[in-house]
Amino acid sequence: MTEDDLTNPDPEPDERTLESAVRPGSLAEFTGQRRVSDQLSLVLDAARHRGAVPDHVLLSGPPGLGKTTLAMIIANELSTPIRISSGPAIQHAGDLAAILSGLVEGEVFFLDEIHRMSRPAEEMLYLAMEDFRVDVVVGKGPGATAIPIEIPRFTLVGATTRAGLLPGPLRDRFGFTAQLDYYADDALERIVNRSSTLYGVVVKPDAAAEIASRSRGTPRIANRLLRRVRDFAQVRADGVVTRDVARAALELYEVDALGLDRLDRAVLDAICRRFGGGPVGLSTLAISVGEEAETVEEVAEPFLVREGFLMRTPRGRVATAAAWKHLGLTVPAGARGIVDELPDLFSQ
Ligand SMILES: Nc1ncnc2c1ncn2[C@@H]1O[C@H](COP(=O)(O)OP(=O)(O)OP(=O)(O)O)[C@@H](O)[C@H]1O
Ligand SMILES: [Mg+2]
Repeated sequence: MTEDDLTNPDPEPDERTLESAVRPGSLAEFTGQRRVSDQLSLVLDAARHRGAVPDHVLLSGPPGLGKTTLAMIIANELSTPIRISSGPAIQHAGDLAAILSGLVEGEVFFLDEIHRMSRPAEEMLYLAMEDFRVDVVVGKGPGATAIPIEIPRFTLVGATTRAGLLPGPLRDRFGFTAQLDYYADDALERIVNRSSTLYGVVVKPDAAAEIASRSRGTPRIANRLLRRVRDFAQVRADGVVTRDVARAALELYEVDALGLDRLDRAVLDAICRRFGGGPVGLSTLAISVGEEAETVEEVAEPFLVREGFLMRTPRGRVATAAAWKHLGLTVPAGARGIVDELPDLFSQ
């Protein structure tokens, strides 16, 4: 991955290895998301108590918040094996039938990006989830027959970043749905502290707070910033991460005090300086920052919208008063949105 991508919530493949080293293995180690983990713990305890296979679980939420982690925790907590696949990998219903019939009794089947499964596979999944049965079609045309095959009882754990794209009938077949939300700074701070022990680096409490506050509410980003800060501490300092070391490292990587990176600032800067605050269309905006429209829309914008720096309007993207302020520019009279403090009308 490049330095520019430091706050991109999507992982690169080699990053996954680094991630799995700090992935919590039990609900007790899973920090934050209290309500979700309490509810899940109850679902799992009750199933264990009854000696039954728990209901199917749907995990939804933005990238890097812990969906894959929770799926693995569910299998760990149930002491069952886990079979992992993803929506795009299942193109034909036959692919799904092969996986399902190969499961062992009670196994957790983790289906990532479940919203990207093909239609026929989805329909096969309905029946499998409800009746633990798949219908395998043999032959073609009028002579085709569906042979029902019993499959082992399993727990489906579906994950999606786009719960809204799931068809109703699929969503309804999950007994428990957990909606993961961005993490509060104190939870991220605990995650940074836990990971620092696993990475073998000393991080002072105020430095952990500094890293947490720039992590966009996302554990994956917190761990990634921690790794970059650790590199800096080892090469340029004495290996200990103090607040000053954390700040200097994050400055070097162009992650600012609110967690905005170079792309985020370039987007805001373009809207404010080049397009007078907007509205400006996505494709024009993307060209002016030299990025793909998709990257601007999926990586930079969700965070900028959430932080109140940018608005998506039918006529295009608009920078809010907070954006002008964050860039150190004079907020124009017509700027939209709320600023923390009232502008000082008398000093000008
Ligand atoms: N609650 C948590 N406590 C501690 N670490 C966490 C927590 N949630 C996530 N993490 C860390 O963040 C990393 C990313 O989490 P995970 O891979 O589960 O995200 P995801 O929701 O599956 O993302 P994606 O949508 O991109 O697949 C994990 O490697 C894990 O180390
Ligand atoms: Mg995942």
